[in-house]
Amino acid sequence: MIELAAKTGTLTVGELLAEAISVFQNTGCVRPRFEAEYLLQAALGLNKVTLFLSSKKIVAPEDIVCYQGMLDRRLACEPLQYIAGEVEFWSRNFLVTPDVLIPRQETEFVLEQVLFLAGQQPDVCRRVLDMGTGSGIIAAVLADELSCQVIAVDSSPSALKVASTNINAHHLQTRVSFVCSDLFTAVSRSQQFDIIVSNPPYVAEAEKDNLHPEVTVYEPFSALFAGPDGLDCYRHLIPGSYEYLRPGGWLCLEIGAHQGPAIIKMLEGNGYLDVAILSDYAGQPRFAQGKKE
Ligand SMILES: C[S@@+](CC[C@H](N)C(=O)[O-])C[C@H]1O[C@@H](n2cnc3c(N)ncnc32)[C@H](O)[C@@H]1O
Repeated sequence: MIELAAKTGTLTVGELLAEAISVFQNTGCVRPRFEAEYLLQAALGLNKVTLFLSSKKIVAPEDIVCYQGMLDRRLACEPLQYIAGEVEFWSRNFLVTPDVLIPRQETEFVLEQVLFLAGQQPDVCRRVLDMGTGSGIIAAVLADELSCQVIAVDSSPSALKVASTNINAHHLQTRVSFVCSDLFTAVSRSQQFDIIVSNPPYVAEAEKDNLHPEVTVYEPFSALFAGPDGLDCYRHLIPGSYEYLRPGGWLCLEIGAHQGPAIIKMLEGNGYLDVAILSDYAGQPRFAQGKKE
């Protein structure tokens, strides 16, 4: 617990920031200034520029209390994004809570590939399914960029609430609908999709002890882990998707960096054509695609 509140009424924004940076430095934080600024922006509702321009302003007592609460949560290893309650993804802001995975940059690469495939047949892509929508980032970006209808599926009702809030905030409620379902079990059989995209849980349970507590303590287990080798979800998702794709439709998957060979085998073994694994800008093979005949 840090004691900023005792200085209520006397601290300027700049002084408050300096105190927080020093607290983070003393605890061995690797990015003390970045983290202190990130949280102060969230506490005061400012951006980087307005925070800088406000450095000589006295901070309101309630804002100091709010900031102190945020710093205490961070010192307990809670991810910055949950504390701030939002994250920037695809240059848009999305609500995040501990009910959903914090969106990762790798997923932007997945979306770029999906948009590329959709762009090959611009008049054809009308219906997309986002399996394991979480915060709804994939559904929101695709509904907006492709002006298509998206069914966003998740087995977690609380994740779907977050996704729905995000879809409403981006004014996409006429394009995105939600289904609470364990994979395809509650998705109507009569539906055929042009693209099914998924960033499913894919971490091997055996990896749990190697992950940072920021991830294992705070992010939802069901969003991360998929059995002993991390492939359990793909084992059902890959054959299941084939039934729901129209002929010529694409299955697009985010995958773990070491899962490419196993995923190729599953896609080919289930009849998909044009199977490929693509590497992201960090050179990691993180995207898999396969087409229904
Ligand atoms: C890795 S997170 C991805 C969230 C979001 N799409 C993203 O890219 O940030 C996986 C999501 O799949 C959901 N999920 C896990 N198992 C599922 C299942 N059997 N059926 C449907 N959704 C599932 C989790 O609740 C979680 O929201």
